[in-house]
Amino acid sequence: MTSKFIPYAQYVSYQPEEMLQRSKDYYDELRRRRSIRTFSDKRVDKEIIENCIRTAGTAPSGANLQPWHFVAVNNKELKKEIRLAAEKEEYEFYTRRASDEWLADLQPFETNEKKPFLEEAPWLIAIFEKRYGINPDGSKKKHYYTSESVGIACGLLISAIHHSGLASLTHTPSPMGFLNTILDRPSNEKPFLLLVVGYPAEGINIPDIKRKGINEIATFLLD
Ligand SMILES: Cc1cc2nc3c(=O)[nH]c(=O)nc-3n(C[C@H](O)[C@H](O)[C@H](O)COP(=O)(O)O)c2cc1C
Repeated sequence: MTSKFIPYAQYVSYQPEEMLQRSKDYYDELRRRRSIRTFSDKRVDKEIIENCIRTAGTAPSGANLQPWHFVAVNNKELKKEIRLAAEKEEYEFYTRRASDEWLADLQPFETNEKKPFLEEAPWLIAIFEKRYGINPDGSKKKHYYTSESVGIACGLLISAIHHSGLASLTHTPSPMGFLNTILDRPSNEKPFLLLVVGYPAEGINIPDIKRKGINEIATFLLD
């Protein structure tokens, strides 16, 4: 296949001072993001969700194969079905599957098998990782670095949701195979995350957690 190259005309450059300010502003905006677990039922326009998913779809991916699919649900019956199936798995997790260490690590969040937010929040976005593609003749098409690619797309999605003025929860009821059944997705797609999206319910509290500092998360090797 011949590749075609075009000028990178959309690149925007800034003066160093402006770059510094922009990097600070972006950090300040994203550090305000927090996961919430109690949502208002206030409706959110489909167009906002669509734009956030468009943003996620700009993510880099292995060989640009874009191995993701987003299912955005605000249908009440489907949300209820998802809640019931998730709570069933979560009950197993909290009572049997989770190790003592895992349960201890979850204690600060006071989470349990009850997931009312899956019905209360206006939108659930199920993100699927396409482990492989399907060629027109039905054979398998190899995909590369699918979890890295989908993880990056989810990061962009979460930041786009936050940037739009909405809140989210990254939810991973484990295992999530029920999402294929309820949302009618094919077997080459593996549920990756279930993102709960909406407005925070009034007056909610969030866990008082701390971020690691720059020196804990990064090493700079200088000249
Ligand atoms: C991959 C992943 C899975 C998560 N799964 C759950 C989950 O199933 N239930 C939940 O309440 N929070 C879940 N979380 C949210 C984390 O607890 C939360 O992101 C973390 O405590 C940091 O808090 P913050 O998002 O408010 O910064 C998950 C987060 C990630 C990144």
